[in-house]
Amino acid sequence: MLRLSEKLPKIVVTPPGPKARELLKRDANVLSGSVVRWYPLVVESGTGCVVRDVDGNEFIDFNSGLVVLAVGHSHPRVVKAIKEQAEKLIHYSWTDFYYKPIIDFGTSLTEITPGTYAKKVFFSNSGAEANEAAMKAARWHTRNPLFLAYTGAFHGRTFGTLSLSSSKPVHRRHFFPLIPEVTHVPYPYCYRCPFGLKYPECNMWCVDFIEEEVLKKFHPPEDTAAMFVEPIQGEGGYVVPPDDYFQRLKKILDKYNILMIDDEVQTGMGRTGKWFAIEHWGVIPDIITLSKSLASGLPIGATISRAEIMDWEAGSHANTLGGNPVACMAGLQVIEIINEEKLLENATRQGAYIMKRLKEMQQKYQIIGDVRGKGLMIGVEFVKDRETKEPAPDETLDILNKCFKRGLALITAGKSTIRIVPPLIITKDLIDAGLDVFEGAVKEVSSQLQ
Ligand SMILES: Cc1ncc(COP(=O)(O)O)c(C=O)c1O
Repeated sequence: MLRLSEKLPKIVVTPPGPKARELLKRDANVLSGSVVRWYPLVVESGTGCVVRDVDGNEFIDFNSGLVVLAVGHSHPRVVKAIKEQAEKLIHYSWTDFYYKPIIDFGTSLTEITPGTYAKKVFFSNSGAEANEAAMKAARWHTRNPLFLAYTGAFHGRTFGTLSLSSSKPVHRRHFFPLIPEVTHVPYPYCYRCPFGLKYPECNMWCVDFIEEEVLKKFHPPEDTAAMFVEPIQGEGGYVVPPDDYFQRLKKILDKYNILMIDDEVQTGMGRTGKWFAIEHWGVIPDIITLSKSLASGLPIGATISRAEIMDWEAGSHANTLGGNPVACMAGLQVIEIINEEKLLENATRQGAYIMKRLKEMQQKYQIIGDVRGKGLMIGVEFVKDRETKEPAPDETLDILNKCFKRGLALITAGKSTIRIVPPLIITKDLIDAGLDVFEGAVKEVSSQLQ
């Protein structure tokens, strides 16, 4: 296992160092340019909340990979489970035959997800595939073609899920036609209310809008299969809805027999201090989709629904590699570790501490427009001006790059929000070390703006 320096982060050569630069050249020659690289971090190894690059620099990882390593990098119990299962059996398609790890993991997921009703699980390889399965199950069960989704949503990049995603034009440009039967409604983004209203005086017009202006005017509920929701909008900017929002929404969906599909790909597995973010609002969805943290970095996706929704016939939906036994054994460990190491509690406690420090920074630096989040899913939105709330994308990238050079790994969401999503095992000391780097960068960029 990686042995770390006592003082973190540790920068031995300004990144990207010579070995990283060499790999960046090779990467540019061979790998597709369709992906975004935030900055030239060339990772070699990781342990807990820290990654080491190929030149020996050690970074505090406030990204958890890409919001994946809830239990930290290479948790010893996860590594052991992977090794043991790999020695026994690496593959045997669950959609054609049977094996125990997937039955055990599926059972555990039905136990920890909200809702005491009987459930069924469909396993796949990614978040997009989990959502694709949810779309297909909803259509098959209801025999209805239409979907509702949010502006700013991100549910994946397959043609089905891309039709739901709406957070950036670059995701869709030159890929049309998509699935035409999706209507997007405004997400409850109170800091930038799409209706120009203020909570709570608005009386949550954004929920009534769905009924009054969409369902009653042009999107017939009787033709609608489901509505996709992210309980906290991730890629769209780390946006947290007001407290009573989802309960009001669910009432409307139930009134019209529209299924609620809760995409917990980013928010799930304890990220927000509860197993699933929707639990903060006491709402029980009809389908939940999971991926990212599910198997601590091994590819897997899961779609968990009320049992009666997955009444589709044999052969109607399947895959080859989904629900891989090694990933299932890793996933079982993730659940046990979250329980035994009390990581929901840690996420709540450390998240509250991070919020406190960020709110203090907000008092000092005009560039911080908003700080929001739950547990260890926190967004810091940067603005050029507190009054006009003009987004500050260039300054946000400048902060990101400064942090990188100093040993803190971060990424953005939305136009100008930085995500703070460390592994759920993070300690106060490491948070302080990371936030000190962050504050240093914010201070410098903020002073350049004045
Ligand atoms: C909420 C949400 N849903 C779905 C996805 C897609 O997951 P994947 O990249 O595994 O296809 C993501 C990825 O960021 C996500 O954040």
